[in-house]
Amino acid sequence: MKTLYDKATLHRGVATMAAKIEKVYEGRQLTIVGVLTGSVVLLADLIRAIEQPMRVGVIQASSYRGATTERGDLVINSELMLDISGRDVLLVDDIFDTGHTLKNVVEKLHEFHPKSVKSAVLLRKQGRQEADYEPDFTAFNIPDEFVVGYGLDYEDMYRNLPYLAALEDEDIKRHEQLTRETHVL
Ligand code: IMP
Ligand code: MG
Repeated sequence: MKTLYDKATLHRGVATMAAKIEKVYEGRQLTIVGVLTGSVVLLADLIRAIEQPMRVGVIQASSYRGATTERGDLVINSELMLDISGRDVLLVDDIFDTGHTLKNVVEKLHEFHPKSVKSAVLLRKQGRQEADYEPDFTAFNIPDEFVVGYGLDYEDMYRNLPYLAALEDEDIKRHEQLTRETHVL
């Protein structure tokens, strides 16, 4: 795998984004909602980098797609979410690719009558956007490559890598080999 950003670079990017968020929400109480599962690592780091009172919750969005970036049906589950009515909500997700996920989750949140909804993402893939929506805060703009680590997965693996890496063809072959062996055992 090719490392795109090491641990220190990721933490600097998150700290810079946190400072921007603090400025925008100065003197207001924030409600941060992380999109499961990809946002968990970013969520943990971001909430500790924002030094102001906040409530934290999660919402689940799954699109049932594995390997590629082809679009599947998006399912949003808000059962785990905290009450956001009348609140200033900041939605947090790992990556903004075509934009359909974030746009749909933002629309879903509006059904619960928040005061405002903004969004923050770790990554925004350049040149991939299809949806008529842009995140309010972005830590890094990246080229159109499939990336894993720091919460991002390939078939639910690699989320735990503390760095961000681009998957190359050999990595995918190795992953498939490993998956076959695991299933045989
Ligand atoms: P969008 O709806 O196309 O913006 O896709 C957003 C979702 O696709 C993210 O929350 C990720 O789960 C997934 N995704 C898109 N690109 C990547 C990638 O490069 N690596 C891992 N997951 C990705
Ligand atoms: Mg995701």
